[in-house]
Amino acid sequence: MRSLIECARKVYYDDAVFYVPEDVYEPAEDTFLIADNIDVNLGDRVLDMGTGCGILAIISAFNGGEVVAVDINPNAVKCAKVNSVINGVSDRISLICGDLFNPIRQSELFDLILFNAPYLPCKSEEHLGKVSLAWCGGENGRAIIDLFIDSAPAYLRRNGRILLVQSSLSNIEETERKMRDRGFDVEIISERRFLFETIALIKAIKVRF
Ligand SMILES: C[S@@+](CC[C@H](N)C(=O)[O-])C[C@H]1O[C@@H](n2cnc3c(N)ncnc32)[C@H](O)[C@@H]1O
Repeated sequence: MRSLIECARKVYYDDAVFYVPEDVYEPAEDTFLIADNIDVNLGDRVLDMGTGCGILAIISAFNGGEVVAVDINPNAVKCAKVNSVINGVSDRISLICGDLFNPIRQSELFDLILFNAPYLPCKSEEHLGKVSLAWCGGENGRAIIDLFIDSAPAYLRRNGRILLVQSSLSNIEETERKMRDRGFDVEIISERRFLFETIALIKAIKVRF
Protein backbone atom coordinates (compact mmCIF):
# COMPACT_ATOMS: atom_id res chain seq x y z
CA MET A 1 0.00 0.00 0.00
CA ARG A 2 2.82 2.35 0.95
CA SER A 3 4.65 2.20 -2.41
CA LEU A 4 1.40 2.87 -4.33
CA ILE A 5 0.70 5.95 -2.22
CA GLU A 6 4.25 7.24 -2.57
CA CYS A 7 4.40 7.20 -6.38
CA ALA A 8 0.77 7.94 -7.24
CA ARG A 9 -1.01 11.11 -8.35
CA LYS A 10 -3.69 12.34 -5.94
CA VAL A 11 -7.22 13.18 -7.09
CA TYR A 12 -9.79 14.78 -4.80
CA TYR A 13 -13.57 14.55 -5.01
CA ASP A 14 -15.56 16.21 -2.19
CA ASP A 15 -13.87 15.00 1.01
CA ALA A 16 -12.41 11.85 -0.54
CA VAL A 17 -8.88 11.33 -1.88
CA PHE A 18 -7.90 8.80 -4.55
CA TYR A 19 -4.34 7.64 -5.29
CA VAL A 20 -3.78 6.86 -8.97
CA PRO A 21 -0.56 5.22 -10.24
CA GLU A 22 0.67 5.77 -13.80
CA ASP A 23 -0.85 2.64 -15.30
CA VAL A 24 -4.36 3.33 -13.99
CA TYR A 25 -6.86 5.78 -15.56
CA GLU A 26 -6.80 9.16 -13.82
CA PRO A 27 -10.35 10.40 -13.10
CA ALA A 28 -11.32 13.06 -15.63
CA GLU A 29 -14.37 14.95 -16.97
CA ASP A 30 -16.08 11.69 -17.97
CA THR A 31 -15.59 10.26 -14.47
CA PHE A 32 -17.03 13.38 -12.86
CA LEU A 33 -20.01 13.34 -15.24
CA ILE A 34 -21.09 10.05 -13.63
CA ALA A 35 -19.87 10.94 -10.13
CA ASP A 36 -22.03 14.10 -10.07
CA ASN A 37 -25.12 12.10 -11.11
CA ILE A 38 -24.83 8.83 -9.18
CA ASP A 39 -28.28 7.99 -7.82
CA VAL A 40 -27.68 5.24 -5.28
CA ASN A 41 -30.39 4.37 -2.76
CA LEU A 42 -29.54 2.84 0.60
CA GLY A 43 -28.93 -0.90 0.13
CA ASP A 44 -28.81 -0.76 -3.69
CA ARG A 45 -26.63 -3.43 -5.28
CA VAL A 46 -24.26 -1.52 -7.56
CA LEU A 47 -21.90 -2.87 -10.23
CA ASP A 48 -19.06 -0.50 -11.15
CA MET A 49 -17.77 -1.80 -14.48
CA GLY A 50 -14.21 -0.70 -15.34
CA THR A 51 -13.62 0.70 -11.88
CA GLY A 52 -10.13 2.16 -12.52
CA CYS A 53 -8.93 3.71 -9.24
CA GLY A 54 -12.31 2.82 -7.69
CA ILE A 55 -13.69 6.33 -7.47
CA LEU A 56 -17.26 5.54 -8.64
CA ALA A 57 -17.44 2.37 -6.53
CA ILE A 58 -16.29 4.31 -3.48
CA ILE A 59 -18.79 7.17 -4.02
CA SER A 60 -21.54 4.54 -4.43
CA ALA A 61 -20.49 2.92 -1.14
CA PHE A 62 -20.50 6.35 0.58
CA ASN A 63 -24.14 6.65 -0.57
CA GLY A 64 -25.14 3.32 0.97
CA GLY A 65 -24.61 0.95 -1.95
CA GLU A 66 -23.34 -2.63 -1.71
CA VAL A 67 -20.82 -2.58 -4.53
CA VAL A 68 -19.12 -5.06 -6.85
CA ALA A 69 -16.35 -3.46 -8.93
CA VAL A 70 -14.64 -5.07 -11.93
CA ASP A 71 -11.60 -4.10 -14.01
CA ILE A 72 -9.57 -5.94 -16.62
CA ASN A 73 -6.40 -4.15 -15.47
CA PRO A 74 -5.02 -5.96 -12.38
CA ASN A 75 -3.18 -2.81 -11.28
CA ALA A 76 -6.48 -0.91 -11.30
CA VAL A 77 -8.01 -3.54 -9.03
CA LYS A 78 -5.06 -3.28 -6.60
CA CYS A 79 -5.27 0.51 -6.67
CA ALA A 80 -9.06 0.51 -6.10
CA LYS A 81 -8.55 -1.82 -3.14
CA VAL A 82 -6.07 0.59 -1.53
CA ASN A 83 -8.39 3.55 -2.16
CA SER A 84 -11.36 1.70 -0.67
CA VAL A 85 -9.35 1.07 2.52
CA ILE A 86 -8.11 4.68 2.72
CA ASN A 87 -11.67 5.97 2.29
CA GLY A 88 -13.09 3.56 4.89
CA VAL A 89 -15.50 1.59 2.69
CA SER A 90 -13.55 -1.60 1.90
CA ASP A 91 -16.20 -3.67 3.71
CA ARG A 92 -18.85 -2.50 1.19
CA ILE A 93 -16.93 -3.17 -2.03
CA SER A 94 -15.95 -6.50 -3.64
CA LEU A 95 -13.19 -6.00 -6.20
CA ILE A 96 -12.68 -8.43 -9.06
CA CYS A 97 -10.20 -8.57 -11.93
CA GLY A 98 -11.83 -9.73 -15.16
CA ASP A 99 -13.29 -9.01 -18.57
CA LEU A 100 -16.71 -7.26 -18.45
CA PHE A 101 -19.36 -9.62 -16.99
CA ASN A 102 -17.26 -12.81 -17.20
CA PRO A 103 -16.40 -12.84 -13.48
CA ILE A 104 -20.02 -12.12 -12.37
CA ARG A 105 -22.26 -15.09 -11.53
CA GLN A 106 -25.20 -15.40 -13.96
CA SER A 107 -27.73 -15.22 -11.12
CA GLU A 108 -26.41 -11.93 -9.71
CA LEU A 109 -28.76 -8.99 -10.15
CA PHE A 110 -28.01 -5.30 -9.62
CA ASP A 111 -30.09 -2.16 -9.12
CA LEU A 112 -27.51 0.06 -10.81
CA ILE A 113 -24.64 -0.55 -13.24
CA LEU A 114 -22.10 2.22 -13.82
CA PHE A 115 -19.71 2.28 -16.77
CA ASN A 116 -17.34 5.01 -17.84
CA ALA A 117 -16.47 2.95 -20.90
CA PRO A 118 -13.42 2.94 -23.19
CA TYR A 119 -15.18 4.89 -25.93
CA LEU A 120 -12.61 6.45 -28.25
CA PRO A 121 -11.95 5.13 -31.77
CA CYS A 122 -8.38 3.85 -31.99
CA LYS A 123 -6.23 1.52 -34.07
CA SER A 124 -4.92 -1.67 -32.47
CA GLU A 125 -1.30 -0.44 -32.71
CA GLU A 126 -2.32 2.35 -30.34
CA HIS A 127 -2.46 -0.26 -27.55
CA LEU A 128 0.62 0.92 -25.75
CA GLY A 129 0.01 -0.58 -22.36
CA LYS A 130 -2.62 -1.26 -19.74
CA VAL A 131 -3.77 2.33 -19.52
CA SER A 132 -4.82 2.36 -23.21
CA LEU A 133 -7.48 -0.22 -22.22
CA ALA A 134 -9.10 2.68 -20.41
CA TRP A 135 -9.96 4.68 -23.50
CA CYS A 136 -9.45 2.51 -26.60
CA GLY A 137 -12.75 1.22 -28.02
CA GLY A 138 -11.44 -0.27 -31.27
CA GLU A 139 -11.81 1.10 -34.83
CA ASN A 140 -15.23 2.72 -34.29
CA GLY A 141 -14.95 3.20 -30.53
CA ARG A 142 -17.82 0.76 -29.90
CA ALA A 143 -16.03 -2.57 -29.31
CA ILE A 144 -16.49 -2.60 -25.52
CA ILE A 145 -19.73 -0.58 -25.45
CA ASP A 146 -21.51 -3.08 -27.74
CA LEU A 147 -20.38 -6.10 -25.69
CA PHE A 148 -21.52 -4.30 -22.55
CA ILE A 149 -24.99 -3.50 -23.98
CA ASP A 150 -25.45 -7.14 -25.07
CA SER A 151 -24.72 -8.56 -21.60
CA ALA A 152 -25.91 -5.89 -19.15
CA PRO A 153 -29.70 -6.57 -19.31
CA ALA A 154 -29.27 -10.07 -17.83
CA TYR A 155 -27.65 -8.59 -14.70
CA LEU A 156 -30.30 -5.97 -13.91
CA ARG A 157 -33.42 -6.17 -11.80
CA ARG A 158 -36.71 -4.91 -13.25
CA ASN A 159 -36.44 -1.10 -13.24
CA GLY A 160 -32.71 -1.50 -12.71
CA ARG A 161 -30.69 1.28 -14.28
CA ILE A 162 -27.48 1.90 -16.18
CA LEU A 163 -25.38 5.06 -16.16
CA LEU A 164 -23.05 4.91 -19.17
CA VAL A 165 -20.68 7.61 -20.41
CA GLN A 166 -19.58 7.80 -24.01
CA SER A 167 -18.44 10.24 -26.65
CA SER A 168 -20.12 11.62 -29.77
CA LEU A 169 -17.07 10.14 -31.59
CA SER A 170 -18.47 6.63 -31.05
CA ASN A 171 -22.11 7.18 -32.09
CA ILE A 172 -24.34 7.92 -29.12
CA GLU A 173 -27.54 7.40 -31.20
CA GLU A 174 -26.46 3.81 -31.90
CA THR A 175 -26.17 3.18 -28.16
CA GLU A 176 -29.63 4.68 -27.52
CA ARG A 177 -31.17 2.55 -30.29
CA LYS A 178 -29.53 -0.69 -29.10
CA MET A 179 -30.64 -0.07 -25.53
CA ARG A 180 -34.25 0.66 -26.58
CA ASP A 181 -34.24 -2.59 -28.62
CA ARG A 182 -33.26 -4.44 -25.43
CA GLY A 183 -36.15 -3.09 -23.36
CA PHE A 184 -34.75 0.09 -21.85
CA ASP A 185 -36.16 3.60 -21.51
CA VAL A 186 -33.23 5.79 -22.47
CA GLU A 187 -32.35 9.45 -21.98
CA ILE A 188 -29.25 11.62 -21.97
CA ILE A 189 -29.26 13.24 -18.55
CA SER A 190 -26.12 15.36 -18.81
CA GLU A 191 -23.44 16.21 -21.35
CA ARG A 192 -20.24 18.20 -21.70
CA ARG A 193 -19.17 19.82 -24.97
CA PHE A 194 -15.57 20.12 -26.05
CA LEU A 195 -14.02 21.36 -29.29
CA PHE A 196 -14.01 18.00 -31.09
CA GLU A 197 -16.52 15.90 -29.13
CA THR A 198 -19.39 15.87 -26.71
CA ILE A 199 -19.42 13.37 -23.88
CA ALA A 200 -22.85 12.23 -22.79
CA LEU A 201 -24.18 10.54 -19.67
CA ILE A 202 -26.82 8.05 -20.80
CA LYS A 203 -29.34 6.80 -18.26
CA ALA A 204 -31.17 3.61 -19.24
CA ILE A 205 -33.92 1.98 -17.15
CA LYS A 206 -34.87 -1.62 -17.79
CA VAL A 207 -38.64 -1.44 -18.10
CA ARG A 208 -39.35 -4.47 -20.31
CA PHE A 209 -38.09 -8.08 -20.23
C1 LIG B 1 -12.35 5.37 -18.84
S1 LIG B 1 -11.69 4.26 -17.64
C2 LIG B 1 -12.79 4.59 -16.28
C3 LIG B 1 -12.17 4.33 -14.93
C4 LIG B 1 -13.04 4.81 -13.74
N1 LIG B 1 -14.32 4.13 -13.71
C5 LIG B 1 -13.28 6.30 -13.86
O1 LIG B 1 -14.39 6.69 -14.22
O2 LIG B 1 -12.32 7.06 -13.59
C6 LIG B 1 -12.26 2.66 -18.23
C7 LIG B 1 -11.84 1.49 -17.34
O3 LIG B 1 -12.40 0.28 -17.93
C8 LIG B 1 -11.44 -0.76 -17.82
N2 LIG B 1 -11.74 -1.75 -18.87
C9 LIG B 1 -11.46 -1.69 -20.19
N3 LIG B 1 -11.89 -2.79 -20.82
C10 LIG B 1 -12.48 -3.57 -19.88
C11 LIG B 1 -13.11 -4.85 -19.90
N4 LIG B 1 -13.22 -5.53 -21.04
N5 LIG B 1 -13.59 -5.36 -18.75
C12 LIG B 1 -13.46 -4.66 -17.56
N6 LIG B 1 -12.85 -3.44 -17.48
C13 LIG B 1 -12.38 -2.90 -18.61
C14 LIG B 1 -10.09 -0.05 -17.99
O4 LIG B 1 -9.01 -0.81 -17.47
C15 LIG B 1 -10.35 1.26 -17.23
O5 LIG B 1 -9.97 1.15 -15.88
